[in-house]
Amino acid sequence: MKIQFPDLPYAINSLDECIDSQTMDLHYNKHHRGYYEKFITAIEKVNTEEIENLEQLFKNISIYEPSIRNNGGGLYNHSFFWNCMTPDYRDCTGTLRVAIEKKWKTMAGFEKSFSDVASNHFASGWAWLIVDNNRELQIVETANHDNPLMDVCPTKGFPILVLDVWEHAYYLRYKNERSAFINAWWDIVNWKHAEERYATLFK
Ligand SMILES: [Fe+2]
Repeated sequence: MKIQFPDLPYAINSLDECIDSQTMDLHYNKHHRGYYEKFITAIEKVNTEEIENLEQLFKNISIYEPSIRNNGGGLYNHSFFWNCMTPDYRDCTGTLRVAIEKKWKTMAGFEKSFSDVASNHFASGWAWLIVDNNRELQIVETANHDNPLMDVCPTKGFPILVLDVWEHAYYLRYKNERSAFINAWWDIVNWKHAEERYATLFK
């Protein structure tokens, strides 16, 4: 398994309406890169010849030492998170919007439910929109750097959208007001990316 540290898909200051550039710089260049480097160190001790990518590794993550689970999750989750945001916002459209409105009645209803999970998550972790193994949309939360691709996650599924609710994601600008960060975050969500993820399952 060969893993590269990913480029940010936009300039570091381009999400400033929600995330200030100092937070982005620390988050990407220090936190994310730190997880990447620790993961590479930990995974070098393991035979991964049969494993092609992180998604495949996560299916049996429970057999590996905690540093592989924690840093591998930190690596994957942040790479996915950057792609869930954009400086060029547009509303959710297409089959994903239809499916969200079928389940939560309105986009506002979905955003309220997702925001409630994200803001009420205890301590560090992540809020996800996934397609579960019954091919249903679900909102789930994970602790630390776990994700719904891992065998240790009680509700597993295919990630469509994620929000990082670790304090390092928002504390410089929003201090203890995680809900204010979440409210602002909806204006930078990359619905195009979410729609493309959803479309790979429902062609
Ligand atoms: Fe983070």
